[in-house]
Amino acid sequence: MRAGTSAVESAAQLLAAVRAGGGPPTHVAVIMDGNGRWAYEHGLARWEGHREGMAAVRETVEGALEAGLAHLTLYAFSSENWSRPEEEVAALMDLLQEFVDSEKEDLRRNGVRVRVFGELDRLSESARAAVRDLEGHTREVGRMQLHLAISYGSRQEIVAALRTLAAEVARGELRPDAIDEERVAGALYTSEWPDPDLLIRTSGEMRISNFLLWQIAYAEIHVTDVLWPDFGRADLFRAILDFQGRERRFGGV
Ligand code: IPE
Ligand code: IPE
Ligand code: MG
Repeated sequence: MRAGTSAVESAAQLLAAVRAGGGPPTHVAVIMDGNGRWAYEHGLARWEGHREGMAAVRETVEGALEAGLAHLTLYAFSSENWSRPEEEVAALMDLLQEFVDSEKEDLRRNGVRVRVFGELDRLSESARAAVRDLEGHTREVGRMQLHLAISYGSRQEIVAALRTLAAEVARGELRPDAIDEERVAGALYTSEWPDPDLLIRTSGEMRISNFLLWQIAYAEIHVTDVLWPDFGRADLFRAILDFQGRERRFGGV
């Protein structure tokens, strides 16, 4: 929510309900979708939807801090998104660098440590430098971890993990029967942080689009029709409240 007293009040009320509702999820992951449709609805070019989406990222990070999340993962650009028109990809990469320049100081001040994961060798040298800058700038803080999936695909991640393990087997360092869930998880980009408890997708799409397939095995899923640029902290709090009302069973009774 970016303006209006009543919207601010309702976000505050929702936050109070989240705080009263038991512990927040440890890790929330978000498929940020609908920038293009938002732009179309406003008679704007697609890249302007992506720019507006950046403001929603800021909002969501602030909301996540207020809610007390330990980990927030945002799907910013998929391996498959490289197939979009060259101008759109270029605009997204420019926005990434703009995001780093405009947000890195606030992120550090707010104690947000940023990690970026994905096939980063596909990024341009300047985009990679921006990523390194952001990670380096926030390395020392740890109130919350923000994980950005950029040039990320879950199947590609799993293939890379299998290659790593296969190479260890080939070198005689790992026995095939020593490969267990922990080993596989340990070879993924996400090895250092817990699996998401809650997965949010905006824009009403009921699909996963190659995001964290291994890691979301037992995540609760919340789909909202809100288009990503309109997503605000109140929407994050609603998703958390939905999560807090779920009964997680993990296959038990
Ligand atoms: C999400 O918005 C941003 C990225 C995938 C980079 P989209 O660009 O997918 O927006 P829609 O789905 O076309 O509305
Ligand atoms: C998923 O959205 C990728 C990101 C949000 C970065 P897409 O818009 O690319 O997914 P599809 O094409 O609708 O499955
Ligand atoms: Mg989309």
